[in-house]
Amino acid sequence: MDMNVFIQTIPKAELHLHIEGTLEPETLFRMSERNGISIKYDSVDALRQAYRFDNLQSFLDIYYEGAGVLQNETDFYELTWEYLLKAKAQNIRHVEIFFDPQTHTERGIAFETVINGIFNALSEGSRDLNISFCLIMCFLRHLPESDAMETLSQALDFKDKITGVGLDSSEAGHPPSKFKRVFEKARKQGFLTVAHAGEEGPPEYIWEALQDLKVQRIDHGVRALEDKSLIKELKNRRIPLTVCPLSNIKLCVFKTIREHNFKKLFDQGLCVTVNSDDPAYFGGYVVENYLALQNAFQLTRDDIAQIAVNSFNAAFISQDKKDMFIDQIKKFAAE
Ligand code: HPA
Ligand code: ZN
Repeated sequence: MDMNVFIQTIPKAELHLHIEGTLEPETLFRMSERNGISIKYDSVDALRQAYRFDNLQSFLDIYYEGAGVLQNETDFYELTWEYLLKAKAQNIRHVEIFFDPQTHTERGIAFETVINGIFNALSEGSRDLNISFCLIMCFLRHLPESDAMETLSQALDFKDKITGVGLDSSEAGHPPSKFKRVFEKARKQGFLTVAHAGEEGPPEYIWEALQDLKVQRIDHGVRALEDKSLIKELKNRRIPLTVCPLSNIKLCVFKTIREHNFKKLFDQGLCVTVNSDDPAYFGGYVVENYLALQNAFQLTRDDIAQIAVNSFNAAFISQDKKDMFIDQIKKFAAE
């Protein structure tokens, strides 16, 4: 079997995906017209041209602007459904989806509009596309902790639909410790926890995510390699990293894919996973991220299978479900 086909068809989980980051320019235009929301760009091409970023913040500015076309439940439903169809074509069998309620509630969109649209699509995807899922609600770290507290209290009405809470948006200057109390409250309510850390921010932010927020997983975490004792901690505690290679290149965390430290993290024996982050903005979904790494580092089929196994081991699913998926990978890879 050709390597491209192998990567395409091996069962995979995606664990780091912002649903607002799957808004393709075509969909963005369609919704802007339908909802009468004007945007700065004249065409899909002009919009795509604007997707050149110098760092995380230059991306976030465009990403939050784009999210402005999402107005009603149907918009959130269609956004999610379109992503699920792409995931299906890449044989993604389980997704853990981030959503940013504050991006929408700040614009006067009700929390329930957002979550119902996303959740209904995910439920349908689980039934009709055989893609299992969970939802992770992220707090925007550039806003005060009090806003996150308010968002958490709104989420309590939808507790059965939300598995975990996370932390995203502008990292520099907004350390995880700023959100210690809201994460503590979330944990008491039974939410699992993750946080973006060590994407642009220093290794200390990863330590804070572990110690202050008591996260089960680190999103990105690539700067962990700067701290030997941190690598030891991540290894000993089997804390997974959800790495997003194409995102890191687009946001200039690394200059080129060959300079990415994925292979170093992988060779350390860490539980690293490969994800797409904001695929509509970064030029690729999960398969394109696997392919970029395979090309750059000449990864073998065993390496690819190990990355796919990691994706299920790192997922918020039962051990039985993990075993089932991993068994499928083993059988697939042995063919
Ligand atoms: N980092 C931080 N916040 C984000 C990202 C990211 O990569 N994508 C969407 N929000
Ligand atoms: Zn992210």
